Amino acid sequence: MGEKTISHMVDEVDRYSHVVLMISKTVDELFPETIPKLGSIRGELTRITLNDGESLKSIRNYQKIMRVLIERGIPRDSLLAYVGGGTVGDLAGFVASTYKRGVDLMAVPTTLLSQVDSCLGGKNGINFSGVKNAIGTFYNPRSIIIDVDFIKNSSPDMIRDGLGEIMKYSMIGEHTVFNLLQNGTDVETLQKEDSLSRIITLCLKLKADKVSKDFRDRNGERRDLNFGHTIAHAIESSSKNTVHHGIAVATGMLVELYIGETMGVTDKSLRSFLSAMMARYSVPKIQLRSLGLDTIVSFIRNDKKSMDGKIAMRIPSDTETMVDVAIDPEAIRSHIRSYMDSNESVARSTL
Ligand SMILES: NC(=O)c1ccc[n+]([C@@H]2O[C@H](COP(=O)([O-])OP(=O)(O)OC[C@H]3O[C@@H](n4cnc5c(N)ncnc54)[C@H](O)[C@@H]3O)[C@@H](O)[C@H]2O)c1
Repeated sequence: MGEKTISHMVDEVDRYSHVVLMISKTVDELFPETIPKLGSIRGELTRITLNDGESLKSIRNYQKIMRVLIERGIPRDSLLAYVGGGTVGDLAGFVASTYKRGVDLMAVPTTLLSQVDSCLGGKNGINFSGVKNAIGTFYNPRSIIIDVDFIKNSSPDMIRDGLGEIMKYSMIGEHTVFNLLQNGTDVETLQKEDSLSRIITLCLKLKADKVSKDFRDRNGERRDLNFGHTIAHAIESSSKNTVHHGIAVATGMLVELYIGETMGVTDKSLRSFLSAMMARYSVPKIQLRSLGLDTIVSFIRNDKKSMDGKIAMRIPSDTETMVDVAIDPEAIRSHIRSYMDSNESVARSTL
């Protein structure tokens, strides 16, 4: 990880007789000089350019890519490398893990969100029947190349999106990141001061630690990382993916903390801290009312984390401890209604 680390890509890629490069069209156009051309590598190169964004993660696009790989006779000992954000990474990971039962995967994440979170941990997937990541596998990349040059001059909105996940790490035990965010002033300063590299390293360390104890998300160690995500996935799906993942996670955490408070398990100060942090970096709060209570609850019911008909969530109880709660879907509805009533303004007109 660091600056100009992308140059390592060629050495790694050169070991394979066949290389498939799945690359975001936007990134390809924005960084024509940064990304190695790979034209002179030893092996055969198949280049697939992708229109990224959440709609990329579809079964149709998965099939299209599989067809290209089959038609080109890509062998099993090939490398699949991706260059792009989390959506390219999630689709590429799923393709790599399923094509001929698995080919080697190289990750080159290019958004803050993908560098700080999605490139590591082995989760991948596509959306199906309106449900986020309904189909996917656990499959680790063989190598991850994080080049901060991709995000140095990126838009404040992209940084804000990444901050959603970064704030999650600050709330689930990464106290140094919490302090860095508390002491920071705004997105532009964060970017200028190069604090982002330090933050990425700290968050990835925490994620790696949790993932190493529970790769398949079975024994609970990894569940801390899902904080905010039950509500976030419902926000993303209800908004037809117009709300980006990181922004949805930030509001998701606020709502889950509110639920924790209502159930008497969460210290009220946590929501105040998070809310202040979001205001400082201008991370927007999504108005759930505008998405519709019924729609949100219907997506929550389909959440992968539901167990025995109850919605399972892990939320912080204070700055040191996380607690598990299991909530009946009807109770979730009344919690969310109460959150909307007490936190979202209602547009009123007077006749
Ligand atoms: N697998 C995991 O563990 C995991 C974890 C968190 C999120 N995710 C998934 O990641 C996805 C979100 O990822 P994302 O936020 O990277 O979104 P994204 O992949 O849609 O990228 C966001 C936008 O940024 C553009 N972009 C990419 N790199 C850029 C750069 N360097 N400069 C300017 N623009 C650039 C893209 O073209 C796209 O328009 C969601 O689908 C989410 O579910 C997965």
